[in-house]
Amino acid sequence: MCGIIGVAGAHDALGVLLGGLERLEYRGYDSAGVALVAPDGVLWRRRSAERATSLVHLEAALPDAPAGSTSGIGHTRWATHGAPTVANAHPHLDCTGHLALVHNGIIENHRALMAELVERGHAFTSETDSEVLVHLVEEARAAGADLAEALRTILDRVHGDFAVAVVAADQPDLLVAARRTSPLVFGHGAGVAVLASDVAAVLGTAEALHALGDDEVLALRPGRFSVTDLAGRPVAPRPLEVRYGLEAARKGGFDDFMSKEMAEQPHAVADTLLGRLDPATGATDLEELALGRDQLAGVERVVFVACGSSYHASLVGRQAVEAWAHLPAEAEVASEFRYRDAVVGPEVLVVAVSQSGESADTLHALREARRRGARAITVTNVVDSLMAREADGVLYTRAGPEIGVASTKCHLAQLAILEVLALHLARARDALSPATAGELAGALAGVPAAIEQALGRAAQVAAVADRFGGAEHFYFLGRRAGLPLAMEGALKLKELAYVRAEAYPAGEMKHGPIALIEPGSVVVAMATRGPLWDKVAANIAEMRARGATIVAVCDDGDEETAAIADAVLEVPPLPELLVPLAAAVPLQRFAYEVARRRGHDVDRPRNLAKVVTVE
Ligand code: AGP
Repeated sequence: MCGIIGVAGAHDALGVLLGGLERLEYRGYDSAGVALVAPDGVLWRRRSAERATSLVHLEAALPDAPAGSTSGIGHTRWATHGAPTVANAHPHLDCTGHLALVHNGIIENHRALMAELVERGHAFTSETDSEVLVHLVEEARAAGADLAEALRTILDRVHGDFAVAVVAADQPDLLVAARRTSPLVFGHGAGVAVLASDVAAVLGTAEALHALGDDEVLALRPGRFSVTDLAGRPVAPRPLEVRYGLEAARKGGFDDFMSKEMAEQPHAVADTLLGRLDPATGATDLEELALGRDQLAGVERVVFVACGSSYHASLVGRQAVEAWAHLPAEAEVASEFRYRDAVVGPEVLVVAVSQSGESADTLHALREARRRGARAITVTNVVDSLMAREADGVLYTRAGPEIGVASTKCHLAQLAILEVLALHLARARDALSPATAGELAGALAGVPAAIEQALGRAAQVAAVADRFGGAEHFYFLGRRAGLPLAMEGALKLKELAYVRAEAYPAGEMKHGPIALIEPGSVVVAMATRGPLWDKVAANIAEMRARGATIVAVCDDGDEETAAIADAVLEVPPLPELLVPLAAAVPLQRFAYEVARRRGHDVDRPRNLAKVVTVE
């Protein structure tokens, strides 16, 4: 969703801002803008709201940028309050035109603040909630406060979530920023100071990064900075460990980020497993969880909360916890969990799963669970993200930055870490024999190689996409671990190819949805070998009898399954609960191929944002 970048002390401030905005694009946006502090002490601003190509249009509008500007701020906006128009795009200016401000988040009491400000003579030029902030800073400055003090003094009056950055025309080398809930990082590179809402935006520019904390105010200049709390007391900022470099946020020779990220999946899973699993003994090491064996042994129930692909990974995690740790487990869509009277207390371990660590639905579910007394851990790919900070413990997936909106490598890394967590719980409760734990750990250690093999079948997937990709309706069916896998396959097809794709438990079709099956319907059936293969085969027969075309996801060389299907997507055989780790690969690829054939942008599907920070 929205993104912030700021720079001070650069030879080419505009270049740094545009480079940062480009790396924020993946979050999803509908308008963009920059403001530079020109050497003559004037603020120069350009904004664009050309749908989906704002950045290109913004760049086109920049030839008249003032030469020699060393500082400025930039923003990508995903509209919430007010349509995606130029007037609503950030940066916003105060009445004097001396201050420019960018904001991520939502100011809940903006109407009341705006009414007050209008009464005091301020003129508003946008419909956004954000604009109140710049007028409030303007007033505080007029009352004699310096820029940082001005920002500090207004924050008590602001309700909501925000990351905000301000520049002033008369202080060319100063960036001032603050945050509450929405992330903000900052750091220094060769002679420059930068800040951003997302690490990816400042990779390659800053050498060491720090994270700003809630209700902290930053005054940042080239070579120095100060951070204070709202009372003006100095605060030591938290250094941020970044495990990847600029290359990780570039396409690196691939046509798109999605291809690159699919290709990175064996590494993402191998890195996520590294040091956490001993394939010889089945021993697990999740020290970073900060929950000891005794605490884990006392857990009576596990509840996963998540959205989208993270929810699908959670459904597999739930099955693994039940099967291996013999603990009652549930997985629930976070936006539903939050508003249900969920019965969770200290005996429950809540696991919030989120690639970004920022999804508002999951964040609020996590908070609600903790409010009700549950112990809560976060599984996330983003170090120091909100959910990582707010939970009692955190397990990081180590997939590196995922830029494509459709989750691929992060989804597989989530599956891997959740299965390790299930094994860890099983061992803490002595629920598995060492021999069985060892077998499972050995199989998990072999998953990166299985993913590599599954990636090698791209030609088979492309052929299936050629034959059936033009269909208008798809039904993805599965049982047990095959069901979340089917749900993930259907989600990928919907979000990338904009095709109706329904995921259903294979055994449930006969209770209603089978009425929809007719010649031309394409059924993608999860039919790898496992205890329920016979049942799935019977369900396939039911669909076939009604004229459906069957694409079966099956084990390599499984002729019996091939004989009951029109086409197969083959994957290396794995133990049943590990199957989604390899079998998600052809389903991702299938959605990718169909989307490309239909001419869609696979990295930035319509209407979607990578990081969903609204409810
Ligand atoms: C997956 O391809 C999606 N784009 C989406 O469903 C995503 O998984 C969901 O929004 C959750 O995001 P999170 O993992 O960052 O919380």
